[in-house]
Amino acid sequence: MPNVLVCPPDYFDVVDQKNPHMSPRAQVDRAKARTQWEKLCSVMQQNGCQIHIVDPVPGLEDMVFAANQVFVGEKAGYGKFVVPSRMRHPSRDREVPYFTQWFAARNFRVIDLALTQDGYLEGHGDLLWDYECSRIYAGYGFRSTRAAIVKFSAAMSEMGIPVTPLELIDPYCYHLDTCLCALNAEAVLIFAGALSAESLASVHNHWKRIHLLDADEAHHLMGNGIVVNAHYIAPRMTPQLDSLLREEGLTPEIVDTSEFEKSGGSCFCMTTFFP
Ligand code: ARG
Repeated sequence: MPNVLVCPPDYFDVVDQKNPHMSPRAQVDRAKARTQWEKLCSVMQQNGCQIHIVDPVPGLEDMVFAANQVFVGEKAGYGKFVVPSRMRHPSRDREVPYFTQWFAARNFRVIDLALTQDGYLEGHGDLLWDYECSRIYAGYGFRSTRAAIVKFSAAMSEMGIPVTPLELIDPYCYHLDTCLCALNAEAVLIFAGALSAESLASVHNHWKRIHLLDADEAHHLMGNGIVVNAHYIAPRMTPQLDSLLREEGLTPEIVDTSEFEKSGGSCFCMTTFFP
């Protein structure tokens, strides 16, 4: 049963502009946000997920985006591990210890990269496992930095886990999880306009089938989907996205995340899947 860590949106708000989706004038309807978040959790449960909760903290308005604070994984011979993020925005960086402690208390080995000089690393926003958890795709350019990815890659290579860096170039796709999603072991969904030419070539080298989102789909966070139980959970669908998902054997499932999109996040952003 897949385990997924989430954080209830008790204190969710939009108070500044950390990415171009955000407007400091946006008004969040917290009751509606709560309903949408609960719906996302129940759809994940219906698809066989075991939901785990990290308690929200007053004043940490983005903590609901539970994908970013740490990177987690497991490697045979090394066990389960957690890599704390260093978040670019100070208010988000204060979220990190709550997640690190949550995993440390469950016997995940903490790999602390001590990133002070190397910029930033933003967890599963930018670091995505492939479908078989054998390789990590690492986005940088807006939030995570190249130097931090280099340090992260060195730590992963000690466990024999390869990391493929990918340069992000569209500010609306500021995290890799907004423009790349592994659909299965052979197929990936990407928005090509969000990746540098070299990074796009590297994606082509690693996947048998590449499915393309257009700019409008990507900017409406349709690439921020959750693949679980042969379903693709996303905030909305277009006919072309619907049909390519079905071609790959996935059933599209829509969960409205309009309140969270005011903050630049959708379905995948609110989760950390862990072993
Ligand atoms: N407002 C949040 C931020 O800018 C949204 C984070 C979305 N998370 C994600 N994994 N893309 O940090």
